[in-house]
Amino acid sequence: MRGTVVSSAALPFDIAPILGAVEYRAPATGSFDRAALLAALGDADALICLLTVAVDEALLEAAPGLRVVANFAVGYDNVDVAAATRRGVAVANTPGALTEATADFTFALLLGAARRLAEGDRLVRSGAWTGWAPGQHLGADVFGAELGLIGFGRIGQAVARRARGFSMTVRYTNGSGAVAPADQAHGAVRVELDELLARSDVVSLHCPLTPATRHIIDAAALAAMKPGAVLVNTARGACVDEAALVAALDRGHLGAAGLDVFEHEPAVPAPLRACARVLLAPHAGSATTTARRRMAETCARAVRAALDGRAPETVVNPEIYQT
Ligand code: GLV
Repeated sequence: MRGTVVSSAALPFDIAPILGAVEYRAPATGSFDRAALLAALGDADALICLLTVAVDEALLEAAPGLRVVANFAVGYDNVDVAAATRRGVAVANTPGALTEATADFTFALLLGAARRLAEGDRLVRSGAWTGWAPGQHLGADVFGAELGLIGFGRIGQAVARRARGFSMTVRYTNGSGAVAPADQAHGAVRVELDELLARSDVVSLHCPLTPATRHIIDAAALAAMKPGAVLVNTARGACVDEAALVAALDRGHLGAAGLDVFEHEPAVPAPLRACARVLLAPHAGSATTTARRRMAETCARAVRAALDGRAPETVVNPEIYQT
């Protein structure tokens, strides 16, 4: 069956063989701005969109023929799923495609923040490095440290697997999610958030952004963390109160932070950018060629399925297919 597929951004992967016979609209480079996206959507059947696109009532209203929104991300807090469901629009994401890439990146940030890699790089580049000294550039141990994972889905579990190689003690919270069976827990133990914060040398976020996790790391949570602890966020920026984080770093309570995500991307508050103990990354957790190709292909398969009247494997609102 033919259909019209709009992509909110140019995708550097060939998904045409998966989409099959469709009319495909996408910008030649970069992304459509909001007005151009709404104009392109018009009579479209399917939308492939980035996590930067707010798929809200207004967008759904502008595209009354839409049958599926394939979000080029595992997190889909940018999509009003309830509104899509009311209109019978399937919403799909890309679980599994980026699990290992994001877990790798979590460890890059964890190690980089704990061992002050960006600061060291800046020092060497500046030409001001005076040579090896016993008290210079001291960081925190990662091997054998206590790791607390907030969120224990695919990515949290993949981080726990890596942590075993570093002999870390791993604890996790999982919101309203189930206790992971022993074979998926990788030696990690489920605890309450208070205990996780109080006992962890490193706290790493792997939860979706929901009303319950918005600013889950606020001033009180930061104060409850161990002095010198490291915070890592590869989830969503709004899970952390950025002003409170800067304050905790500035007064020396927190040792370091590694952040891949920010509350108002791409804006990063000046005090955070000025903070030497923060390692900053441009939302690159899934940025490997393999992961991004899999994400594109997962989106294309979701679109193809929905156009064929089937539920996409990665649908998050399967109830729209129940008659
Ligand atoms: C990236 O942040 C994603 O949710 O895939």
